[in-house]
Amino acid sequence: MSETSSNEFVVVANRLPVDLEASPDGGPGVWRRSPGGLVTALEPVLRSVAGAWVGWPGTPDVDLEPFVEEGLTLHPVQLSEAEVTEYYEGFSNATLWPLYHDAVIAPTFDRDWWRTYEKVNRRFAEAAARAAAPGATVWVHDYQLQLVPRMLRDLRPDLRIGYFLHIPFPPTELFLQLPWRKEILEGLMGADLVGFHLPGGAENFLYLARRLLDLPSSPRGTTGGGTIDLGDRRVRVGAYPISIDSTQLRDQSVAAATKLRAKEIRAELGDPETILLGVDRLDYTKGISVRLEALRELLVEGTLDPEKVVMVQLATPSRERLSAYATLRDDIERQVGNINGEFGQLGRPVVHYLHRPVDREELVAMYTGADVMVVTPFRDGMNLVAKEYVACHGDGSGALVLSEFAGAAAELRRAHVVNPHDLEDVKRAVVSAVGEERASAARRMRSMHRHVMTHDVDRWANSFLAQLTEDR
Ligand code: ADP
Ligand code: G6P
Repeated sequence: MSETSSNEFVVVANRLPVDLEASPDGGPGVWRRSPGGLVTALEPVLRSVAGAWVGWPGTPDVDLEPFVEEGLTLHPVQLSEAEVTEYYEGFSNATLWPLYHDAVIAPTFDRDWWRTYEKVNRRFAEAAARAAAPGATVWVHDYQLQLVPRMLRDLRPDLRIGYFLHIPFPPTELFLQLPWRKEILEGLMGADLVGFHLPGGAENFLYLARRLLDLPSSPRGTTGGGTIDLGDRRVRVGAYPISIDSTQLRDQSVAAATKLRAKEIRAELGDPETILLGVDRLDYTKGISVRLEALRELLVEGTLDPEKVVMVQLATPSRERLSAYATLRDDIERQVGNINGEFGQLGRPVVHYLHRPVDREELVAMYTGADVMVVTPFRDGMNLVAKEYVACHGDGSGALVLSEFAGAAAELRRAHVVNPHDLEDVKRAVVSAVGEERASAARRMRSMHRHVMTHDVDRWANSFLAQLTEDR
């Protein structure tokens, strides 16, 4: 067994927690934090157990040996330019991503992409098999790697294998459209435990195992979980709503430097009465256009005053070579230009739009200072942004407008919950969040804050891993 196979705990995800950004002059490149909620959630978990992480470094054609980064052992998996196109941009993000998000845009079914998805999943399984110590626990993550559990079990039957899906598991009618639906189910069935955010996802998976694979499954309790009997072993299925490092965020939000920066930001924005905030990857599932349209109509009607309200929209660039994302960017930028053209003043736009990631300190200052956080996805597995905002408002300040189609809505019930397909509903919620009487707003926020503080990412990881290793 190789020198690297001493890891008792291995995470396998499409991306490493850091991305290698190629340097334009062909130099060594710079490592940056990878985008998205998966990395936000998993990084603190893995750091606390000093595990190993198998993943792609985010740039095609880089061949790197395993290396240690701030105590984490990273095992890079190489992808060629063609594999990035077919496995990552194609099957993962133009087939599975839209299909699993309620087919918000039409998914593309392409046989070549599928073959590349299989090939790349095999490479990840082989890398995980090399990295794991005998009898180790391996935790596979997300829709890009649904075939890995089965492939890994074939290579290394000694391992304990968990799988967690970070995005919604779709309604069965949508999943059944997938030409490779049986292969995907069989791939997932290689795990000892398959986890979803919500009971509905677990229920759909159990139903499909019966219907498509003819496997006996038994639901357990009322939480959507259960077991599937494969004859020689059984697969457990359950719901594990992911969360954030709430204590760290809460502590950061009350630090003097954060409070000061929050004040400075308000002053830089022209000391408006109300700051609305949106924070997303620039993705068509996030409903950014809905909240901008709601704001525009409220300004047109005179319900909101452009002298008193400012919206900050942060949008991290994402999957930029896919046409749906390029079109979305154009649409959002047109909407922002439209609102500012109509309602802005010299040196005082109504919408401040940043198409780039901001660093963590600045983000927390924005969360802390914003009066209303607007989270309006058409569909979202969880949405950590909503929980991050709530963690920063332990003093009861602020308000949250939250789509009922975000997994977080199952927990943050005291938010101003909206249907993002109903523009009037979104407008109503924004107005009531802006105008709510302070004491009642504070009761809502404190109750959500208590929930997020007690249901943090450690609790999520511990409950999943306790179940995974239970009958060892
Ligand atoms: P997704 O995983 O789909 O991107 P989540 O809301 O679950 O959505 O997680 C997004 C994560 O990325 C959060 O931790 C959030 O703080 C971070 N993030 C999103 N947009 C930005 C941004 N513009 N700058 C910095 N961090 C961001
Ligand atoms: C979501 C997905 C993650 C993904 C992230 C960023 O959180 O669940 O698997 O890593 O978005 O997307 P990207 O395509 O840039 O990895």
